[in-house]
Amino acid sequence: MSAATVSITPVPAAEPVRSLTPYERLGGEQGVRRLVDRFYDLMELEPQYADLRAMHPTQMDETRDKLFWFLSGWLGGPDLYSPRFGHPRLRMRHFPYAIGTKERDEWMACMLQTLNELGLDADLQRQLHDAFAGTADWMRNKAEPGNMPAGNVVHA
Ligand code: HEM
Repeated sequence: MSAATVSITPVPAAEPVRSLTPYERLGGEQGVRRLVDRFYDLMELEPQYADLRAMHPTQMDETRDKLFWFLSGWLGGPDLYSPRFGHPRLRMRHFPYAIGTKERDEWMACMLQTLNELGLDADLQRQLHDAFAGTADWMRNKAEPGNMPAGNVVHA
């Protein structure tokens, strides 16, 4: 009795499943631009952000570009910030501005309003909220009860 011949057809390797980045889930370049533009539009329009607005330059075109370039990479898309300005060193770049709990909370309120308006799915919205909240908190550099940053902070 001859041994049965078993032919094995190679099965193509399954495509590795890759989850979408926040950048992709937001709609790529256009989606991130929309987020940044709405964020600064609200900062300019809404009276409750007047103090936050006053910390920023009168002309905000470059500010908008910078946040867009930074967020593009930060959200998992192309890094557009570092080739222009080097390592973000975000905390250090905020040293000229006195950022305490009030400033952090106003920035976050403006961002939360933006995220709410964009009509994102709940999961993405929560993920972005948490990432922004952590970074905004880390940006605090003003000595006040509950936050005593170590030295080297020079406000303008
Ligand atoms: C916590 C409250 C925050 C305040 C009050 C604040 C305020 C500011 C101000 C006044 C500037 C200078 C704008 C200009 O000169 O054009 C700036 C720049 C910038 N901010 Fe913030 N910011 C905050 C949090 C954040 C967070 C959470 C992020 C990112 C997730 C961020 C990203 C940036 C970037 C990328 C720049 C441009 C840096 C540069 O290249 O000069 N900021 N911010």
